[in-house]
This record gives sequence, C-alpha cells and structure tokens, in this order.
Amino acid sequence: MTDHQTTIQGGPAVEVQPVRYNTFSKMDDGAFDSFITDRMGNANKLTALRMLVEDGGLGETFTALDIGCGPGQIAAMIEADMVLKGRVRYTGMDQNERALEYARERHGAGYEFVQRDLLEEGLWEGASFDVVMFHDVIEHMPHYKPALEAALEARPRVLVINTQTVCSERTEDEIRYHEKAACYMNYYAYCEFTAFLRERVGERAMTVVDFPPIVNAENDWYPVKPQKVFYVRLRD
Ligand SMILES: C[S@@+](CC[C@H](N)C(=O)[O-])C[C@H]1O[C@@H](n2cnc3c(N)ncnc32)[C@H](O)[C@@H]1O
Repeated sequence: MTDHQTTIQGGPAVEVQPVRYNTFSKMDDGAFDSFITDRMGNANKLTALRMLVEDGGLGETFTALDIGCGPGQIAAMIEADMVLKGRVRYTGMDQNERALEYARERHGAGYEFVQRDLLEEGLWEGASFDVVMFHDVIEHMPHYKPALEAALEARPRVLVINTQTVCSERTEDEIRYHEKAACYMNYYAYCEFTAFLRERVGERAMTVVDFPPIVNAENDWYPVKPQKVFYVRLRD
C-alpha cells in the first residue's frame, strides 16, 4: 500500500490523491481583496454566524477555531458584524501560508492565524475552543471522518460545518476528484455524513440548514452542488 492509498471500512485499498488546495498560492493582494469582498454576503456563512449570535449556550465572549480559514473570509465577516466582533476570540488555521500571510496583514488583536495541515498534523497539544468551524473546506478533503475527529480533539461546544457536499466513504463508489477545484464530491454521501454526525452527537441538538443548490449544467463533473450548514451542539 502506498502513501496515497487507503482502506475504507475494511474494503480493498482505493486510490486517494493527496489534497493540495493551491489556488491561494498564486493570488496577489488585489485578488484576495476581491475574493473576500465578493463573499461578504454569502448566505451560508452569514447563516452560520447568525446561529452563533443566537446560541444562548455560548458565553458573552467565546473562542472560535476556523479550520481552513484561507485568506480570512470568516474573520472579515466577524469583524464586520457589530455583535460578533466584540464576542469572538478568533483563531484561523490553514495549510496555505500565502493565504495566512494576507489574513495576518489585515487583522489585529483578537485574531490569530496558525499554519497547520489538519489531516497531516491534527491540532496542537492543548488546543481547546468553544466553537470549531469548517467553511467550504471538507469538500476539499478526501475523508471527512479523520478531519472531524481531529477537530473534535478541541472539545468544542459547537461544531459548524458549511459545505457543498462531502466525499463518500464507500469503497463501491467512485471517489470523484476534480484536479482544478481540488475537490472530492458525492452529494449522496450527505446521508452517511449525517449518520456519522448523529452517532457522534447522540441525543444532542443538530440543525441542518439547506440552501439552494448551485446549478451549472455545463459542468458535467458536478452539475448540481447542494449546499448545507450543519450546526451541532456537542455540550453546554
Ligand atoms: C475553498 S477554501 C475556503 C476558505 C475559507 N474557509 C472560506 O470560506 O473562504 C478551502 C481552504 O481549506 C484549506 N485546507 C484544505 N485542506 C486543508 C488541510 N488538510 N488542513 C488545513 N487547511 C486545509 C485550503 O488551504 C483553503 O484555504
């Protein structure tokens, strides 16, 4: 078995390509500025942030880890939110140093950015956060279970996953990898993904918000991308 193979659910080894989301490596500050500005009104991200504001279980101030933070989209949205701005102590983590460099230049006290690959390194020892978030990240990962298990090491009260599908864990399914988008996607994998979360959460509350799918009939690789926000309360 090579480094790029893995055995899923005890089945035969299947080829899994390593994820290197390199889009941000080539972007200059102007391109990052536009990237952030264009997404400030993103409904999924705004909904997830609104759910944090309205969550009575979180204290007056709380810590949040944003895994796969990129150039700091969520940090920018928190800073633009009059309520959240004063409540969140934010840490962004990403494997891409160029995106982090841009984010660090734009955010001051109360915003920290850490370079780390979740799948290869996990979280650091002693990492502990009230909220752990993934925004448009797990669809770029070949397996969600190791990613979520690593994130749960932070023992968050709330786990937020905002995604446009996830990779299937079934050996009988083809693992669909799109080189340019560095994405793995199988919309039907939402069923097993939800079951996995439900098993981890037990009787605790889990809210799933559906958004209109992104439809692009021209894209024969992935013509429909159903978007969802999973908001999971793990403990008080
Ligand atoms: C589509 S971008 C999303 C960026 C940001 N969360 C947002 O919503 O704008 C995906 C991000 O996930 C990061 N990423 C992918 N795999 C990762 C890993 N294994 N560990 C840490 N970050 C990862 C990429 O570097 C990239 O910044």
